[in-house]
Amino acid sequence: MDCKAFVLKQAEGIRRTVGDATAISALSGGVDSSVVTVLGHLAIGKQMKVIFIDDGLMRQDEPQEVKGLFAKLGIQVRVLNAKKRFFDAFHGLTDPEEKRKAFRDTFYKVFGDAVKASGARFLLQGTIAPDIIETKKGVKTQHNVLEQIGIDPESGYGFGVVEPIKTLYKPDVRRVARFLCLPPSISQRMPFPGPGLSARCMGEVTPPRIAIVRKACLIVEQEMAGSKAFQTFGVLLADRPTGITKDGRRREGDAIAIRCVDSKNAVTAQATKISWARLVRMRDRILKEIPTVTKVLCDLTPKPPSTIEYI
Ligand code: XMP
Repeated sequence: MDCKAFVLKQAEGIRRTVGDATAISALSGGVDSSVVTVLGHLAIGKQMKVIFIDDGLMRQDEPQEVKGLFAKLGIQVRVLNAKKRFFDAFHGLTDPEEKRKAFRDTFYKVFGDAVKASGARFLLQGTIAPDIIETKKGVKTQHNVLEQIGIDPESGYGFGVVEPIKTLYKPDVRRVARFLCLPPSISQRMPFPGPGLSARCMGEVTPPRIAIVRKACLIVEQEMAGSKAFQTFGVLLADRPTGITKDGRRREGDAIAIRCVDSKNAVTAQATKISWARLVRMRDRILKEIPTVTKVLCDLTPKPPSTIEYI
């Protein structure tokens, strides 16, 4: 892939589409939205405002880390606290597709409000090829794909969407990120789903349940650091497995699945081979640091038939 030609072409495309208007970049800190943010910065400079929506579904300390990282690149990021709106939208929902749709609708409403308040006419977004393919095929509703499912963002939410990397797969996005001199913590960043930890929380999405899965993800990521896995995370299942207290009483608790996959482009995936010692370390930390857990499982399912995430 010719990264220079790609960057020049997309920057020109953004300039042409946005014209004299202003645009907002929806930064999540992942490699996709980071590349789009830098492309927008190169293309239209101060005509672009960068917003990071803190939906309450990010990994440990992620919003502040992302803000700090972009400040070093000379790009100011506004963190918008929208936690309550997202948790309200999830209230009472347990069906995976309903949860995805609730996330998507809230995401666009929150952004719609931010776009309106700022007077911006466009939203720059890091949709990539697999997002579109999976949404079109009906595998699952990716939060960042609208036109493909028949929603016109202009009439539905009040702004135009610009998607400069929608023809790329992950390896090429990473190439472009390196070409743009983004640091490895971004160019090599592990993929994280748009709906955040809600995609790793079976059953209802509530602040205490998200706190549990956030901790599980942190433990699995830390213990798998240095591995070549494509994604490593923990999942909070909806089951309430029976456990036993130290003094022999029965209790119900939480079930955590460890999910680590190898993949090239997220279209297919295999379970990562993990040593027994590493698995035991993860299990012990999960049991110690999340005292409500009564079951730790390891998910070995490839994609297909599974998907990488749980919703
Ligand atoms: P699945 O679970 O479909 O995930 O096998 C494939 C890859 O996409 C990520 N993923 C998402 N990314 N918006 C995104 O930007 C989403 O709604 C979304 N859902 C899943 C997932 O983490 C994996 O890398």
